[in-house]
Amino acid sequence: MPGIVIVGAQWGDEGKGKITDLLAEHGDAVVRFQGGNNAGHTIVRDGEEWKLHLIPSGILYPGKRCVIGNGVVIDPKVLIDELDALRARRIDVSGLRISANAHLIMPYHLLLDSAGEAKLGKLQIGTTRRGIGPCYADKAARLGIRVQDLLDEKILKKKIVAAMEPKRLSLRPFEKDPTLDLHTMTEEYLVYGHRLEQHIADTSKLLWELLEDGQKVIFEGAQGAMLDIDHGTYPFVTSSNPLSGAACVGTGVGPKAIDEIWGISKAYTTRVGAGPFPSELHDEMGETIRKRGGEFGTTTGRPRRTGWLDLVALRYAARLNTLTALVLTKLDVLSGLDRVGVCTSYRGAEGAEFDDFPYHQTVLHHTTAQLTELKGWQEDLGECRTLSDLPDGAREYVQFIEEHAGTPVALIGVGPGREQVIWTDAGLDSIIGPGEGARATV
Ligand code: GDP
Ligand code: IMO
Ligand code: MG
Repeated sequence: MPGIVIVGAQWGDEGKGKITDLLAEHGDAVVRFQGGNNAGHTIVRDGEEWKLHLIPSGILYPGKRCVIGNGVVIDPKVLIDELDALRARRIDVSGLRISANAHLIMPYHLLLDSAGEAKLGKLQIGTTRRGIGPCYADKAARLGIRVQDLLDEKILKKKIVAAMEPKRLSLRPFEKDPTLDLHTMTEEYLVYGHRLEQHIADTSKLLWELLEDGQKVIFEGAQGAMLDIDHGTYPFVTSSNPLSGAACVGTGVGPKAIDEIWGISKAYTTRVGAGPFPSELHDEMGETIRKRGGEFGTTTGRPRRTGWLDLVALRYAARLNTLTALVLTKLDVLSGLDRVGVCTSYRGAEGAEFDDFPYHQTVLHHTTAQLTELKGWQEDLGECRTLSDLPDGAREYVQFIEEHAGTPVALIGVGPGREQVIWTDAGLDSIIGPGEGARATV
């Protein structure tokens, strides 16, 4: 059963949107399985830019099935705006299907997200303030409102009352906020229900039928391994599991459906929001990478923190996800540097060296990155399409990463455009299959 999972192998924004769009050409369906509109996935086609937050990155292809799985948290207003914006650009969105079991972000989730951050003050997580955490909290507390509830006024009202009851105290400062009025909220969400009704479906069954039929399904992750609520840099994480394992529960298909797991990593590291980042650069070099890489958040516009590639974290991500391949994006951004740094281990506060990601938060927070310096390259990589087009320094850098990450590199990104990639033999074999004839189509 040909399921391909695409996950972020760092702290998000690795280029998952671009790679999903690229692989979707060889697939039949694309499904999102966790996160919500905290995600911002960019696709650049023929110089035109598309930014998607909730809708799977397969939507630009006519006729591909796009699915929002049960594990996603949906802000229906954002979803409807995104659908309208795509329609306005002549994209056919009629094939989108939304799980009836997905949870909804409600107006009080947005207020609680911001209030929670304000309360934390200096210790804040730096969330996207899209209501993600409070929505997943309600899901776990069994107080969530689901997509299917939009179709029944009585149930919807009852559930909103039940969900707001335990929040009375924390919502007191927002008493006068019109979005919290029960009648207004119910009416607003019923209207969303009418708008979305045609898209609501039993998506687990739909995906099972596609997979049974031998069709290729691409599972599109949001965020990245280091933001995973269980295995990431807790509490500086998101509230879902961006790991490959979640692709199954977040869509309602079993693990046997998954054949390939591709981890996406930049050729360096970025992080938005607070939390440990051992290989962070606080100097001119960090600023240079931010500028050259255009490292400003797709969702919030915040400047991203930048640093050298962290191979300790990447090996950890490869293990947590059982990656079958690695995609290295934004290699072009490192052109023009004399030396390129890469973090190969951590040094703890007491001098111990860590090759593996430390499990204890206090240890991690006090580690410093141990860097290996490799020779850089000056050439622009934007036009490179094969490994042999790459200058020596760039090719050696990729080889070094492949060896130290213990995972074959399938694809290398050399620019934002969908054609700006280098396929390796490993990538071609796993997606297109061996044989030169088939490969000629790439
Ligand atoms: P996502 O959240 O993982 O989909 O990543 P984002 O879209 O938030 O951020 C990745 C950014 O890098 C986007 O602006 C992409 O257009 C851009 N991008 C992706 N791959 C490459 C690449 O190989 N080179 C360059 N220069 N930009 C890239
Ligand atoms: P994509 O899919 C990068 C970060 C936030 C914050 C933490 C918690 O585009 O890679 P949340 O709003 O989820 O409660 O915030 O997670 N974060 C992301 N960082 N890319 C993302 O998504 C992110 N989604 C959440 O900045 O540090
Ligand atoms: Mg992003």
